[in-house]
Amino acid sequence: MKTSFILQVLAIAVVASNCVAQDKSVNPEINKSFVKPDVSTFVERFEKEGREVYDHREEIVEACQLKPGMVVADIGAGTGLFTRMIAPRVTERGQVFAVDIAKEFVAHVEKVCQDEGIKNVKGVVCTSESAELPADSVDLAFICDAYHHFEFPYKTMRSIYHALKPDGQVVLVDFDRIEGQSSDWILSHLRAGKATFVKEIELAGFEVVEERDFLATSYWIRFKKSERKTDSKHTTDSVDDVKRLVADGTAKLIDVREEGEWDAGHLAAAVLVPLSMLRNLPADQLKTKLAAELPKDKIIYSHCRSGGRVLAATPILEQLGYDVRPLALGYAALVDEGFEKAE
Ligand SMILES: C[S@@+](CC[C@H](N)C(=O)[O-])C[C@H]1O[C@@H](n2cnc3c(N)ncnc32)[C@H](O)[C@@H]1O
Repeated sequence: MKTSFILQVLAIAVVASNCVAQDKSVNPEINKSFVKPDVSTFVERFEKEGREVYDHREEIVEACQLKPGMVVADIGAGTGLFTRMIAPRVTERGQVFAVDIAKEFVAHVEKVCQDEGIKNVKGVVCTSESAELPADSVDLAFICDAYHHFEFPYKTMRSIYHALKPDGQVVLVDFDRIEGQSSDWILSHLRAGKATFVKEIELAGFEVVEERDFLATSYWIRFKKSERKTDSKHTTDSVDDVKRLVADGTAKLIDVREEGEWDAGHLAAAVLVPLSMLRNLPADQLKTKLAAELPKDKIIYSHCRSGGRVLAATPILEQLGYDVRPLALGYAALVDEGFEKAE
């Protein structure tokens, strides 16, 4: 009983420390200029010759291969440069969501569209953690020069993942940040380059399907949704990724073994969620119990003794809406890989 109580306290401490990390923006200053933006200043800045994505706007949109009837979300729409180009291509059979954290931009895009008789654009004021789009509604999420502004990239990309239809895709256009090569502005403005952003988006549940090479200082990449699972249905995420994402609070680690095994030894970062509980607790009770310890906006890495029981736990957790990723490595193997054992 006493051990159990101490473990509960430890588990709460782990939850608390992870919450702090998870709540931290990856770049707290990046959207300062978009707080109550003076829209006309940004129209001049975003819609002018000399801005690479403006000069190549036709090719950028052409490459998206839009079709009448498609539903497109322009994420981080800004002044609506691309929203207005996408709208006629999807026709009034389709729709464009102009999504932005700045309500001034969204109001501006809606007004301009109304003035220009564009009827298939709907503005969405979102949050820095979620695109706030209806589930399973979008064919293409278009993200131009906006990903590097995402302060909570995993959460935003997961919200986009849920908004996309099963065969929905993402097109990402962003500056390539190359040490020793990119301009000083790019080096100081962007927190990372292409490889990091692609990796982050892959970890949010996508894979690259196409890359176009017509921009000098930016890249154009198309992603589709991906299961990211091996033939045995374990996650393809590497042990290093798991360690990093658990440490920075993007992910939580659960142990689906039974209490006796847990008491004999477990990982310091893990939370006990026995498979027997997942299987036997009535759904509503299970939901309430898990809600306290497992937030739905985190990746859930699951482990057991040797990679078997995690597979049985996966559909139960998925049914409850978790992004659950079963590890093939069991408890002892994870200790060998450097995961800390609980005292
Ligand atoms: C550099 S502007 C790009 C505007 C437009 N896509 C273009 O290329 O002209 C970046 C935009 O992303 C928006 N933004 C920042 N974080 C966001 C988030 N988490 N979700 C949606 N929009 C965001 C900003 O308010 C801003 O309008």
